Amino acid sequence: MKCRDLIDLNDLSSEDWESIISLAQKIRRAPSEYARAAQGQIIATLFFEPSTRTQLSFQTAMLRLGGQVIGFGDPQTSSIAKGETLKDTVKMISGYADLVVIRHPLEGAAKAASLYSSCPVINAGDGGHNHPTQTLTDLLTISEEKKLDGLTVGFCGDLKNGRTVHSLVKALARFPANRLVFISTPGLALPEYLRQHLTMKGVPYVQSDSLEEQIGSLDVLYMTRIQKERFPSEEAYRKEAGVYILDEAKMKKARADLLVMHPLPKVDEITDAVDADPRCVYFQQAEYGMYIRMALLNRQLTLPSQVPPVYSSNVEEISCKNPRCICNHERYLPPRFFRPENDPASLVCEYCDTPARL
Ligand code: NCD
Repeated sequence: MKCRDLIDLNDLSSEDWESIISLAQKIRRAPSEYARAAQGQIIATLFFEPSTRTQLSFQTAMLRLGGQVIGFGDPQTSSIAKGETLKDTVKMISGYADLVVIRHPLEGAAKAASLYSSCPVINAGDGGHNHPTQTLTDLLTISEEKKLDGLTVGFCGDLKNGRTVHSLVKALARFPANRLVFISTPGLALPEYLRQHLTMKGVPYVQSDSLEEQIGSLDVLYMTRIQKERFPSEEAYRKEAGVYILDEAKMKKARADLLVMHPLPKVDEITDAVDADPRCVYFQQAEYGMYIRMALLNRQLTLPSQVPPVYSSNVEEISCKNPRCICNHERYLPPRFFRPENDPASLVCEYCDTPARL
């Protein structure tokens, strides 16, 4: 049976990705054919964290499919401000809507929501963890211009906290002929669990601190913002901010067919002059996000309904050590761990992917 939730892109098979991407391409070419595809249905967009593109593209996608939208963009206007749990909020809203889209500052929040929802849940970003619908958008953007295999893809900026990076790295690891280049300061390097994942999948990668040295070898450059809101203090953020700036001089060293992508919002990591370079596709990428979400909503809303599994803790006396994991904030959540394929002797938190220190 097809998975009704989209929490992590690895919930879907490569064939599922292909069919969502090709449906998005079809919708983009003939949107009017889908104008009534979701008529009579309602999605709830629960945004516990700021968002422009993801929230508005989900809402527009549903409206363009002929459906309707309820939800909030500021949790202070809902009963969460009165102390309501995520569990109660989701239990109740999933009785109002046919599908829930959730963005939350804590890692694993979408997974937690899916445990209590009676309708499908889509993860629209959970803390610094994952952002699968952005990744589908990114895959569509790349596949409009290039083949998805045999690419050298550079990631630059905040690779530690950037959830769009984490999801895209996992996705590109499905194609073993890809080569990845991680450009960051040591403090903002890609998390270890993702580097291990690449090693397990046999995907070659290098780590570097120089955008200038690496740019000439890239087919795709994925620039990212330093995720200010994930730093413990303004001072800690200042130490990492402004290190990598993509300017015209660096673009001169890049290949003529480079694709410069960015999930947006950008702050100061790309100069305004570079925006006009035809190799920059980030505004196009943002538009593709709407077609991907139309395709995804169309798919998930037509899947047969499932009774949510009853979850209980599967470990004794182990708790997740990640302070930003939802299970350390919403205390009713059962601690859940899995044993990774590459290291069956260890345990990893099911909500946030953080290895447990045994
Ligand atoms: C990203 C996000 O929210 O993770 N934006 C997006 O969804 N398009 C990137 C970011 O905030 O830096």
